[in-house]
Amino acid sequence: MLNRIANRRLANSFSKIKFTFAAVDWNEIYTNHVGIYIHVPFCEQLCAFCPFHKVVYRKELKDLYLKAIEKEIHTRGVGGKVEWVYIGGGTPNLLSPTEIGRILNALREHVDLANIGMEGNPLQFTPEYLQQVRELGIEKLSTGVESLKPDTLQHVNRAKADEAHIQSIVDLAKELGLTVNVDLMVGLPKQSREDFLFDVDRIGIINPQQITTYPFMEIPGVRVAPAMDSRSMFDLIEQAGQILAGHNYFRENVWVFSKTKKIYDSARDELVIDYLGFGAAAFSKVGGLQMVNPPLALYLDMLQNGRSQAFRTTVDENSENWRKFAHELYNLRLDPKVIQEMPRSIKFVLSLLRLTGNVEGNQVTAKGRFFVHDLTKTVVESLPFPINNPLAISNYEEFDKLRIAAQAILLQKEITTEPVSSPLTQQANP
Ligand SMILES: C[S@@+](CC[C@H](N)C(=O)[O-])C[C@H]1O[C@@H](n2cnc3c(N)ncnc32)[C@H](O)[C@@H]1O
Repeated sequence: MLNRIANRRLANSFSKIKFTFAAVDWNEIYTNHVGIYIHVPFCEQLCAFCPFHKVVYRKELKDLYLKAIEKEIHTRGVGGKVEWVYIGGGTPNLLSPTEIGRILNALREHVDLANIGMEGNPLQFTPEYLQQVRELGIEKLSTGVESLKPDTLQHVNRAKADEAHIQSIVDLAKELGLTVNVDLMVGLPKQSREDFLFDVDRIGIINPQQITTYPFMEIPGVRVAPAMDSRSMFDLIEQAGQILAGHNYFRENVWVFSKTKKIYDSARDELVIDYLGFGAAAFSKVGGLQMVNPPLALYLDMLQNGRSQAFRTTVDENSENWRKFAHELYNLRLDPKVIQEMPRSIKFVLSLLRLTGNVEGNQVTAKGRFFVHDLTKTVVESLPFPINNPLAISNYEEFDKLRIAAQAILLQKEITTEPVSSPLTQQANP
C-alpha cells in the first residue's frame, strides 16, 4: 500500500519534468566536486532488454565519435576535483585500449583522475586488453553476463560468453589488481527461476569481488517484456543473497553483493555528487541543473560545427531531497546526519516506514527491502529521459528538425546510425 502511494507520487512528479533543447554555455556552470561519465554508444548486437543510447558498431562512426569526444572534453573543459570516472555504454570495450587511452589523456590535460572504472561485454575482454587498460589507470571493471543460458540470451539478441572465459577474465583482472563486477539480470523473458538461481551460484563460484543482480526494468526503449512481476524478481534477488552469503558475499545495497568496499556502482555514485557526462546522450548534473547531451548524429554534427547544445532542466529542491532520501534507502542504511537535514514531508514518510516495520532505527529491515527494491525500480523506470521521450521535451519539434538534419548530413557521407526503434519508443513518438 505504502509502496503504491510512494511509487505513484514519484512517477507523477517525474512526468511533470520537461527538458528544453537549447544552447549551453558550460563555462557558466560551476563545478567543484565532480564525477565524470563517458558514454560509448556502440554495441556489436543490440540487446532487446537494453534501453541505453547505442547503435551498431561501425569503424567510421567510431572514428568520428572519438574525435568528437576529445573535442568536447577540450572545449567544454573539466573542472573541480574528480572523485570518480565511469566509462559506460553501450559496449566501451569495443574501443581499443589505445582509444580508451585517448579519452583518458584528453581528460588528464584538465584534471587529475581517480577511481576509474569501465564496463564491457565479457566477449571483448582479452588478457592483453585487461593488461593494457590496467596500465592506463583503470581500477574497476564491470561486465554484463546477464544470464548463462543460451536460449535466454538468444531470445534477447545477446551472444553468450562461456563460463571458462568469464572465469579467466575474472582471475586475471584480480591478479592485475582490478576490482571486477559481474551483472546478472532477473526477469528476462524465457528465463526460469531455476536458471537465474543456477547463474547466481555459478558466478558466486567464479568469485568476482562484486555481483549485481538487476531486476529487468521496463524503461522506455526496451523491446521485450519481463517474465515476472516486481515481487517475484525481488524474492529471487533475496534467494540470490542467501546463495551468495554461502560464497561469502555481503549485501552492499539492495541489488549489489560484494566482497569489497570499492564497488562499481555508477547509479549509486551519481546520487552522491554532481557529475559531468561526455558523449552522445550523456547525462550531467551540476548544482540545480540536469543536462543531457544530444543523440549520436546531432552530437557529432554539434561538435563538428563548434556548437554547444543540450537538453536542460532544473532540479527543484524537493526532487533533490527525494533523490538523497532514495540514495539512503538504496544503501539499506540511513545516515542520521542526512536524515536530520531532510524536510518534514520526508521525515513523515520515514516515520511511516518505521511504523510499518520497513525501517528499524536507521536500518532497512528485510520487509523494507521490498519497498526499496520496488521504489528504486520505479524511479529508474519513470526517470524522464528526453532522448526516448518526446513528451519530456518542451520544444520537441525544434529539436527533431535538428536531429533529422544531422542524420541527413551523416547519410550524405554514407554513414548511417542504425535506428534504435522499439514498440515502446515508437508509441511515444507523436
Ligand atoms: C549499460 S549496460 C552495458 C552492458 C555491456 N554492453 C555488456 O555487454 O556487458 C550495463 C548493465 O545494465 C543492465 N541493464 C541493461 N538494461 C537493463 C534493463 N532494462 N533492466 C535492468 N538492467 C538492465 C545490464 O545488467 C547491463 O550489464
